[in-house]
Amino acid sequence: MLATRDVASDNGRITIRYKIIVNKTVSNTVAKHTPDEPDIFRKKMLGWYSKHRRTLPWRALPEQKPNPYHVWLSEIMLQQTTVQAVIPYFQKFITKWPTVFNLAEAPNEDVMSAWAGLGYYARARNLHKCARTIVEEYNGVFPNDQSTLKTLSGIGDYTSAAITSIAFDKPANVVDGNVERVMARYYAEETPTPQGKKNLKAHAQYYTENRSDHPGDYAQSLMDLGATICTPKSPVCSLCPINENCLGYKGGNPQQYPIKTSKKLRPQRYGYVYWVVDDQQKNLLIHKRSDKGLLGGMIGLPTSEWLEDKSKCEHLSIFNKREIVKSQKHITHIFTHFSLHLDIYLITNHQIKAPVNYRWYALQDIKEIGFPTVFDKVRKYLLK
Ligand code: ADE
Repeated sequence: MLATRDVASDNGRITIRYKIIVNKTVSNTVAKHTPDEPDIFRKKMLGWYSKHRRTLPWRALPEQKPNPYHVWLSEIMLQQTTVQAVIPYFQKFITKWPTVFNLAEAPNEDVMSAWAGLGYYARARNLHKCARTIVEEYNGVFPNDQSTLKTLSGIGDYTSAAITSIAFDKPANVVDGNVERVMARYYAEETPTPQGKKNLKAHAQYYTENRSDHPGDYAQSLMDLGATICTPKSPVCSLCPINENCLGYKGGNPQQYPIKTSKKLRPQRYGYVYWVVDDQQKNLLIHKRSDKGLLGGMIGLPTSEWLEDKSKCEHLSIFNKREIVKSQKHITHIFTHFSLHLDIYLITNHQIKAPVNYRWYALQDIKEIGFPTVFDKVRKYLLK
């Protein structure tokens, strides 16, 4: 079934008429989509949220005041990462660094190492930079307006809106993947293009503009609806508080929204990784990666460049060719934009002085060093 639509605006109230096309013949049925007015829509969402809200470690309980440090920390961690993956990291961070002052004072290496495994490491660098700015320029108090928040490291459109509404209960249009999905279904938004994304943001804006009735709870109600009812694969529409005027639901196939552009194949890259042990078999050679680029600033294993053309891979020049011994082992790791295949080379009895940005580290403590996942896979593989 397809629908063509016709949008009319009457004093800000949008009415959309759909011609339903069944088996490519235009039927006489004209489904009228009258989205709920913001007052009604918000009332339904807030009513649902008061009964079904998730309890999350960074979320204030009803009647409690949100802690802006917790809200900020969680929102940075939740960028491109699931709630389940974030929970243990959030708890680790607030235990180690209970306030933004503690975090700002921490050595950068400790922050990077505590972030290890969560991915997208630029977030950790920006997080630390932002904590220092909050302490040095704002006396440890988070700004409560979206435009000032956006000037801080690691805080963009989405995160500034989320902090404004959740931490300070001020209106802001918070549009994450969950909210996009809810809006795409509610409006049966068919355009899988940048314009389509803009439309979703405009739909969400219609419900938030100048609305000061519980902005924080409202933003979180959409997130929770998207995470528990309006889920990507099998939405539970019968339990949804806004199903009455949801066009996706009425059309009978809500899960087709948001319509995605076809995915590009993930490119493959190849390289070498080295497990280098000293002549006493006690220490492992580790590498502090440059701040720029992938896994920037993280501690890792020595590794070659990672190239799409395997035949162009060259060994690191810090090793003597004769000591490089190929193992039969290799690992594959999936990054967002490419898959990486690394051949593992073992070098024992190594006697070199560690070059700049490399150092020896006690093998018995290596588990705690905080390798990013790709290098931790090598460690687990070799030490299992
Ligand atoms: N995803 C992003 N931010 C969130 C939040 N504050 N609560 C739940 N899920 C989220």
